[in-house]
Amino acid sequence: MFEFSQLELPIIQAPMAGGLNTPLLASAVCNAGGVGSFGFAYTDAEKVAQDLAQTKALTSGPVNANFFIFQPVEIPSKQTIIDAVAALSGFSLEGGYSLAIPTQPFFPDIILQLEAVWAEQPAMLTFHFGIPSEEIIQAAHAREISVGVTATNVTEARAIVKAGADFIVAQGIEAGGHRGTFSPDGYDSELPLEQLLRELVAEASIPIVASGGLMTGLDINRALNLGAVAVQMGTGFLCCDESSTPSSYREILLSDALRPTQFTRGFSGRRAQGISNHFMVAMEHKPTLPFPIQNTLTGTVRKAAAKSNDVEFQSLWAGKGYAKSRAMSVAELMQTLQKEMSGGK
Ligand SMILES: Cc1cc2nc3c(=O)[nH]c(=O)nc-3n(C[C@H](O)[C@H](O)[C@H](O)COP(=O)(O)O)c2cc1C
Repeated sequence: MFEFSQLELPIIQAPMAGGLNTPLLASAVCNAGGVGSFGFAYTDAEKVAQDLAQTKALTSGPVNANFFIFQPVEIPSKQTIIDAVAALSGFSLEGGYSLAIPTQPFFPDIILQLEAVWAEQPAMLTFHFGIPSEEIIQAAHAREISVGVTATNVTEARAIVKAGADFIVAQGIEAGGHRGTFSPDGYDSELPLEQLLRELVAEASIPIVASGGLMTGLDINRALNLGAVAVQMGTGFLCCDESSTPSSYREILLSDALRPTQFTRGFSGRRAQGISNHFMVAMEHKPTLPFPIQNTLTGTVRKAAAKSNDVEFQSLWAGKGYAKSRAMSVAELMQTLQKEMSGGK
């Protein structure tokens, strides 16, 4: 079974759903001594198998396959759908876009997705938005696959320990992408990573991985000093040569003209953090469909925006530390982080 102590560098490249993770990226991280991940939330079983097999051909290092725990979707009323579609209509986008009401199934069947995982046997399996079933945890353990679950507060962490998971990914409010809270609409304590780490390290009997806003070796050291066994970095890898981040998204991450980050439900129906743009501002206080129907509904907007390099309508997921983004290869980034961790510049 995977142990964090076997890593050369205690760094997990975060799973990033939506096609940003590639076998090239994940394998480069593994080959540089860390853990390479895939965000397979919306990915069909065939592509899960293909990505894992391709990665295995490029590295023998530990790979993480990550999935969302989707909640059953309550079908919205006709009026809610009309209002949500109206909120998305009339954006001025080159090439235009059409809006189609999503139909069932709204998300992939995790049992089918996991068949591909069982066949490929990655080192670890992680989950966002909740805890997988007991059967899934048992099936992973029977194959020596380590299981991790995101927590944003102590209550979630306690439930993760009780379920028999092997480690917790502590997600601070600084993190880019979706908040991993178990409840999509419940109270969110919005804890900064350092406070969350202190609370979870004191409480939990299993290893804690720190995530949220960590961009440099010094950031990593701070998290390790607070008791984390490793860190999970997403934004920090977005500008790596091996990542499939679109060029216009990279330019915004690397731009000196800093914009604030912002949380929005506008793109997917669940709160996620990214660099503020026209879409996020326009969608403040506007009605949305439940997650992930809103995500499917806005797919055509995001695609048209990516095609025309229009950053104002793309989901520019990024953590609060994004201004420290670095454009380099994974090997260079990992070397730089290692140097910074050992006190070098
Ligand atoms: C573009 C992007 C996509 C993400 N997608 C996922 C995902 O599919 N699954 C997941 O568990 N976390 C996802 N996250 C959150 C990361 O696991 C992690 O919490 C976050 O990247 C840490 O903050 P940082 O981006 O400041 O490093 C995503 C983050 C980003 C930036």
